Amino acid sequence: MTDNLFKEVMAIKESLGNSVVIPAHHYEMDEIVKMADFLGDSYKLAVDCAANDAEYIVFCGVMFMAEGAALLAKPYQKVLIPDRTAGCPMAEMIDAVQAEKCYANISSLCDREIIPVVYMNSYADMKAFCGSRGGTVCTSSNAARIVKHFLDQGKSLFFAPDYNLGINTANRLGLGKDEIITIERDMSIKGGNPKTAKMFLWDGFCHVHKVFTVDDINSFRQTYSQSQGNTINDLTNFIPARISKAISEKDINVIVHPECSEDVVNASDYSGSTSMIWKTVKAGKAGSVWAVGTELRFVERMADQFKDKTVVPLRKSVCHNMSKITLAKLKNTLESVLQHRLNKSDNPDKQSDIQLDEITVQEKYREDAKKALQLMIDIVEKSD
Ligand code: 13P
Ligand code: SF4
Repeated sequence: MTDNLFKEVMAIKESLGNSVVIPAHHYEMDEIVKMADFLGDSYKLAVDCAANDAEYIVFCGVMFMAEGAALLAKPYQKVLIPDRTAGCPMAEMIDAVQAEKCYANISSLCDREIIPVVYMNSYADMKAFCGSRGGTVCTSSNAARIVKHFLDQGKSLFFAPDYNLGINTANRLGLGKDEIITIERDMSIKGGNPKTAKMFLWDGFCHVHKVFTVDDINSFRQTYSQSQGNTINDLTNFIPARISKAISEKDINVIVHPECSEDVVNASDYSGSTSMIWKTVKAGKAGSVWAVGTELRFVERMADQFKDKTVVPLRKSVCHNMSKITLAKLKNTLESVLQHRLNKSDNPDKQSDIQLDEITVQEKYREDAKKALQLMIDIVEKSD
């Protein structure tokens, strides 16, 4: 990042005043995070955007997040993203056509009513599919609450696209293996009894979180616990002195995102959304040691911010889609917003002549997708 570029982007942002708001996800690069008005996990970003009145929302995250903001936006608001190619491969692992077919199949096999619930990491067609069948959306911060909401009503769930979030949520809620079915991408099913199953899980995954292993956790714990019983002088040979206190207190923690595999989540001490990870590590004891199983830049930011602790990545894994949002692209987007506004002020009685690269949602999906998102917010806010 050049200082000049940073100053230029800041100057454009300031000239736009309250007409623009910049939300950013935790996985964004530091220079983007510094430019953001608010930061969060995907649930918090959706809710904070919906509560914001700025005319332009310049979303620094991936496309499904910007599309979620567009679904919840007021009619006068315009949502933009600095790079439209910032996608999420997991969100592309199922579409509404596949979901319809799969839903019909499992509904014919199961004695219970099945409600579709889609992870936020999905596009509007999938959210609309859920909304049109009384289903909803969930994020990593509320998956257990959402799933429990339907299980308590005696219903089963078709959960897509992330298998790991699904199985980790099922485990957290105490479901048995016979109550869980996996649906392969060719629509074949395996696992429990489909007649009585409570969760049908699509077999999608996040490649960034799939790389973490139980061996990573074991070698982290071994490295730090091996040091126990050594003197401080011994420790300073290979571990910073500031963590020797934590080692002696056995304050060694592993925290991971629930997009990690079931084995990894089970071998960890904590698991939760990016905001939960941030808050948990922040609240950890001074001197404690944390291995974090999620996106690298986010882990490095925590290591930098929480200097009273030692924070290390469980393994280095980067979300290259989040990295597509650069300061130079943010500058271009803010410049287009500035042009749009200037043109409007020249012609107060008509729309701006400048075309913005606005994120829009196809009309056929809009209403049902919004309904699904709103139901998630209602369930979560009611249970808080
Ligand atoms: P959070 O909702 O926890 O921020 O997760 C979003 C995501 O894409 C993680 O890979
Ligand atoms: Fe998608 Fe994985 Fe990147 Fe999250 S970390 S945005 S799930 S690719």
